[in-house]
Amino acid sequence: MTNGMSFDGARVVPVVVLDEVETAVPLARTLLDAGLDAIEVTLRTPSAVDAIARIARDVPDILVGAGSLRTPAQIRAVCDSGARFGVSPGATPALLEAAEDAGLRFVPGAQTASEMLALLEAGFVLQKFFPAELAGGAAFLRAAAAPLPEVRFMPTGGITPGNAGSYLALDNVAAVGGSWLTPRDLLAARDFEAIGRLARDAARIAV
Ligand code: 3PG
Repeated sequence: MTNGMSFDGARVVPVVVLDEVETAVPLARTLLDAGLDAIEVTLRTPSAVDAIARIARDVPDILVGAGSLRTPAQIRAVCDSGARFGVSPGATPALLEAAEDAGLRFVPGAQTASEMLALLEAGFVLQKFFPAELAGGAAFLRAAAAPLPEVRFMPTGGITPGNAGSYLALDNVAAVGGSWLTPRDLLAARDFEAIGRLARDAARIAV
């Protein structure tokens, strides 16, 4: 299944919505122990920036990044908190400029060939493909490989243990991302054993 590519070693990137900042560090340790090397904390909750800072400080071995970035101010805030990469569902000139100014490793989102080409022109070889399943799924990315051979993708949106393998088998997919590993109810219950099981299963998909 592996095609030799990854996002800094990661093939599956948990996309996390963290309601409680206290869960950040035990969650990151659980994911790392399960064999997952990266975590994307989405800026969809007030605790996200603080959560990134705690993970960066207390679990330095996991590659911590920020997701759902929508404004230049968010990019500056997550850089200050120690995020080592940033992801956005899309891309605007202001976001691309802010990421460059901040020196943030940035994975902007694209859905169409024109958006992908524009990002490639701007120097972004690795692009998020979102929402992957609704936007054409693995079949779209397979088709995109012929006219856009340079682009590498991190698909998210609708990825499950059942379909992750079909993406990871593609030569132009570096890693898949998704929230299935860290369900909000398990996080609320602080059920790190159950999350660990999901993460170990995901780590197996990724090899
Ligand atoms: C993302 O921001 O990448 C998505 O919300 C993840 O999609 P999923 O919840 O369908 O995994």
